[in-house]
Amino acid sequence: MEQTFIMIKPDGVQRGLIGDIICRFEKKGFYLKAMKFMNVEKSFAQKHYADLSALPFFPKLVDYIISGPVVAMVWEGKDVVLTGRRIIGATRPWEAAPGTIRGDYAVEVSRNVIHGSDSVENGQKEIALWFPGGLAEWKSNLHPWIYEN
Ligand code: GTP
Ligand code: MG
Repeated sequence: MEQTFIMIKPDGVQRGLIGDIICRFEKKGFYLKAMKFMNVEKSFAQKHYADLSALPFFPKLVDYIISGPVVAMVWEGKDVVLTGRRIIGATRPWEAAPGTIRGDYAVEVSRNVIHGSDSVENGQKEIALWFPGGLAEWKSNLHPWIYEN
């Protein structure tokens, strides 16, 4: 099944949103395949956001990501990349619908609580970067109650 990389950013951690965020992905019917709580090195944050390195806010973005611990996770499920982005909401919190994580909890684009991979391909790249040791193999007994196949 499809996988995505999700990261609760330092503001999400500091504000006590870890449980709520995990709950939303878990209750939806996605599988947690890997998770770690960690501080990120500057060079690692630069690598994660390398595609944005030419943008003017890049140095501020990197400083934000290394400003405190983050929760790095891999979630698996049907259409989890796109659906995960919908659960997260629009990049700019004022454009994020109520009911989404950013719509409910964020105000500033530079403090938008959570990251989610934007494509299956980028998801696989991010998973390889953050979890080079691989993922947990498991399937819930509830699987047939959530998925047809
Ligand atoms: P991620 O899931 O974090 O990758 O966000 P995204 O995919 O919704 O947006 P994008 O990849 O374009 O930007 C990455 C991150 O850069 C955003 O989540 C913001 O935290 C930050 N960012 C984007 N635009 C701006 C901006 O105009 N100013 C500042 N300060 N930060 C921005
Ligand atoms: Mg992005």
